[in-house]
Amino acid sequence: MIQKYVYGKPFTTEAIIEDVALGEGNPAYGCIDTAQGFTFTYQMEEDDIIYGLGEANRGLNKRGYCYISDCTDDPNHTEDKRSLYGAHNFIVVAGKKTFGLFFDYPSALTFDIGYTKADTLKVACEGKDLNLFVIDGDSPYEIVKQFRKAIGQSYIPPKYAFGFGQSRWGYKTKEDFRKVVDGHRENNIPLDMVYMDIDYMQDFKDFTLNEKNFPDFPAFVQEMKDRNIRLIPIIDAGVKVEKGYDVYEEGVKNRYFCQREDGSDFVAAVWPGDTHFPDVLNEEARAWFGDKYRVLTDQGIEGFWNDMNEPAIFYSQEGIAELKEVLKDFLENGNGDDGITAGEMAAENGRKDGEAGGKPKFGSSVWPLMGKLGSLANSKADYRRFYHNTKEGRVRHDQVHNLFGYYMTRSAGEAFERIDPDKRFLMFSRSSYIGMHRYGGIWTGDNKSWWSHILLNLKMLPSLNMCGFLYTGADLGGFGADATRDLLLRWIALGVFTPLMRDHAAQGTREQECYQLENIEDFRHVVGVRYRLIPYLYSEYMKAALNNDLYFKPLAFVYPEDSMAVQVEDQLMLGNEIMIAPVYTQNAKGRYVYLPEEMKFVKFLPDGTVMEKVLGKGHHYVEVALNEVPLFIRSGKCIPVAESAEYVEALNTEHMVMLGYQGAEYELYEDDGVSKAYKKPEEYRKMKM
Ligand code: GLC
Repeated sequence: MIQKYVYGKPFTTEAIIEDVALGEGNPAYGCIDTAQGFTFTYQMEEDDIIYGLGEANRGLNKRGYCYISDCTDDPNHTEDKRSLYGAHNFIVVAGKKTFGLFFDYPSALTFDIGYTKADTLKVACEGKDLNLFVIDGDSPYEIVKQFRKAIGQSYIPPKYAFGFGQSRWGYKTKEDFRKVVDGHRENNIPLDMVYMDIDYMQDFKDFTLNEKNFPDFPAFVQEMKDRNIRLIPIIDAGVKVEKGYDVYEEGVKNRYFCQREDGSDFVAAVWPGDTHFPDVLNEEARAWFGDKYRVLTDQGIEGFWNDMNEPAIFYSQEGIAELKEVLKDFLENGNGDDGITAGEMAAENGRKDGEAGGKPKFGSSVWPLMGKLGSLANSKADYRRFYHNTKEGRVRHDQVHNLFGYYMTRSAGEAFERIDPDKRFLMFSRSSYIGMHRYGGIWTGDNKSWWSHILLNLKMLPSLNMCGFLYTGADLGGFGADATRDLLLRWIALGVFTPLMRDHAAQGTREQECYQLENIEDFRHVVGVRYRLIPYLYSEYMKAALNNDLYFKPLAFVYPEDSMAVQVEDQLMLGNEIMIAPVYTQNAKGRYVYLPEEMKFVKFLPDGTVMEKVLGKGHHYVEVALNEVPLFIRSGKCIPVAESAEYVEALNTEHMVMLGYQGAEYELYEDDGVSKAYKKPEEYRKMKM
């Protein structure tokens, strides 16, 4: 049962779309305090586990740290970070008392989960206007399913989007793209998509193409399609300020951009230099911006990724004006004796905690200058400098900050409905809020080529699913920093199982396309295993999406009575048949796994054969070489496995082998992969081992 508690006058986010009964008074759990802002406090039992928060740092059990829902463009996902790109305010408290909470609040919200006081869960925000949804149910899993139903069906991508995608910031010309496709095709590494990063645009202008590099773009899109490759261009949030550029001119004329308090269009510098943000919270502006995707769909494009939509700001004009003041002071007064040392400044900051306490007494030292430079990007002050014209009136951006990525993606999703209502478009976004899961998936942003980020990727997956984000994955191989061959192989072996499977890297990093590395056959094999598993993975994805269920589950949701399984965070259940346990440490020849029941350990070996071995309940060390892909089939279950193929549409699902337990049955979901004519359970194909 879900109940809604309303505090103040909340902004309508449309995260929850099911009718929910109003609760009386305050929720049965915890204490609410609205004296100063809003605070929810709950006394946790020693063994309570806290699930949820979607795209967030650290573990599957969120206990023991403090997280802030505040969509942030921060590429350094170190353990101390509290905010990432998404804001997913759903948690489940699982223990003596088990219940779910969704704080529908679009501005910054803090989840102190036993950080300040080990036994206290404290959720707090500055504002007083929010909807709190409280969900009762028999188990955390059941609560999650109720929540998922309330937020509406998750986005369903086209089937080709389950193929492998290659991306790199820096592909600029048709030749660059052809080289990527050739590299895969010539080496028989399967591939379905190549992503176009910002360089395909003319001067980083949304909905334009670099005129020199992409003459006759439709012919190029078709050339790629003839090779069974879809080109997937990026769209950024900021629209370049440039006289004569139609998107800019129309936006200015119709007042579709976010404005400052005085009514002037707010200027934020991003990749193209000065930009304006489309006011996606304004219905008319949203429809206008969404319709711009037609510029590319008309040329044959069928999928996009939305970026920089926290929205990211490198600097604003106001920020630069302030910087100039500080610089002037520095230049006029020099680095004189009245300046303080770095050590003194640290002590000063420690006492004053940032902005509080007025102007710090830094004198003429270099530190204020350094500080100002460091705080120009994504500054809170900038988020207070512009407004949205919504149905509920004019709202200052910081009050609804976490909705920008959601509504930008919604703008595209709604436009796709108009462009071709029966077609599935590929769409995923960087920033998001719950509700956006109906319009697209998400990738988890700018990670690094670090082993710890493979583990972070793994642990985040079930939490993302709980919040509705089923079509998701990380930049395989790592976006920032230089990837090594072993890291890429191990990460791809996890990517084999994530619905979004994309190798993406930043400009300037070591090249990490599979065909650029030693022993290409290992990459061919590992990516090939993905294709062999697509019939199963797609089937489980569709069942999860159509039934508001999870594709990735913590072991705890399947084996709640097993106190050992409940603690496992680096193995996941995928669909109803298998468990995955990727290797995520360098130089490891295998790993320990815990089996909550007898399972069949399966390894896809590089010679194309499959090793199967029954392992009993308990702890095991399993050997997994760099070029092998392991999975575990649950007792009494089986899965279909196809031959690998160059691209998804070439998969032959008529002749598949079954792996698993004799006598087991499997129901395969199949459809045309592109239309919205989804199949009913009675139409699933019954397969037997
Ligand atoms: C952002 C994106 C990244 C992209 C880059 C250039 O950092 O997160 O994926 O490659 O911008 O567009």
